[in-house]
Amino acid sequence: MSSPTYSPGLEGVIAGETAICSVEGGLSYRGYAVGDLVEHSSFDETAYLLLHGELPTAPQLAAFQTRLAAARRLPPPLNDLLAALPSSTTPLDALRTSVSALAHFDEDANDQSHVANVRKAERLLAQIPVVIANHYWLSRGGTPHPARQDLPHAANFLFMLRGVDPTPAEVKALEVSLILYAEHEFNASTFAARVIASTLSDLHAAVTGAIGALKGPLHGGANEKVVDILTAAGSTAEAAEKWVRDALARKERIMGFGHRVYKTGDVRAGILKEYARKAAEAAGSIGLEEVAEVIEKVMAAEKNMHPNLDWPAGRLYHAMKLEIPLYTPIFAMSRITGWAAHVIEQLDNNRLIRPRALYKGPDRRAVQPIGERK
Ligand code: CMC
Repeated sequence: MSSPTYSPGLEGVIAGETAICSVEGGLSYRGYAVGDLVEHSSFDETAYLLLHGELPTAPQLAAFQTRLAAARRLPPPLNDLLAALPSSTTPLDALRTSVSALAHFDEDANDQSHVANVRKAERLLAQIPVVIANHYWLSRGGTPHPARQDLPHAANFLFMLRGVDPTPAEVKALEVSLILYAEHEFNASTFAARVIASTLSDLHAAVTGAIGALKGPLHGGANEKVVDILTAAGSTAEAAEKWVRDALARKERIMGFGHRVYKTGDVRAGILKEYARKAAEAAGSIGLEEVAEVIEKVMAAEKNMHPNLDWPAGRLYHAMKLEIPLYTPIFAMSRITGWAAHVIEQLDNNRLIRPRALYKGPDRRAVQPIGERK
């Protein structure tokens, strides 16, 4: 047997096989380039593709949307819990708790078959936006807006959050961001979900763990930091340039830049940039876009580092006047499709994921009885 190799952070390690997504030659889901999906499909169609393996026909999409609409409700005790959580609870933490709690009410909770997992995945896809919107209102002492049965995933979420119909341009921009966020191979949260699933645990447990992994600012939490960065950078090109150069000199990480896999740029960021800019124009906040351009130029020149998807996503959600702590939950409202697809794929051909560690501790030694220890 050859000696084991070690790659810090598992960089470059092939840790499994998948038919869901490829990052080779540009990101694709089940063989479709994400740019093509953005052009020619909706988020609901892409969600169906990830969960069911093929793009839906019109009747398949209609039936899928009917199932999602019917599942847009929470068990009343969960609404009581959302209202009772401390006011300091972040929306993402409330979502993590809620996904765990939803398992107790799911009729398929103990059925880990492929078909039951697809049913549970569809229900979670439908319930997650309801959790986010209901927590938003209940944590303020307000009354949630009932889900709309006639709207697709993204439009219903905006309606539940605001109580008014969103504009077509807002819905399109949010859908594009959700398509781009939906799936990304063995990213940290998806890998966490697959590890949990590989023990023959359940889908809700895997998604709960995935949300925990998504929270960190090196992963999904980065989109919430983007607006902080743009605000801190100042309102003029000169101030922004100085701010980013100083931050780099202090060895700070600029959230929304860099990627473990994409070293020459993230195709998703290029696609969403146009929507962020249009939304900023519509909102009269184009100044932030100009500051963003300056930061991009300095990051490319000084660090050869390029924006990832979180960079335009944070700006888009800000231009849409969504509150910052909602940004990572919105990521989860889309990535649930990728997480669930991976859990199902893992279980269809399961082997426990259990790697090895390179031991760096003390040499073998004898236990001293407690009275003899110094
Ligand atoms: N700003 C400044 N320096 C950076 C950045 C950044 N955004 N990213 C990496 N570096 C530096 C890092 O400080 C290190 O420098 P040194 O060698 O001097 O210590 C070097 O680059 C290598 O860093 P690393 O963490 O080993 O590189 P990685 O390829 O493992 O990092 C990353 C990938 C995404 C964790 C990192 O680029 C990062 O922290 N980016 C900011 C957070 C972020 O935007 N995350 C979202 C990722 S993509 C979408 C998603 O998952 O949500």
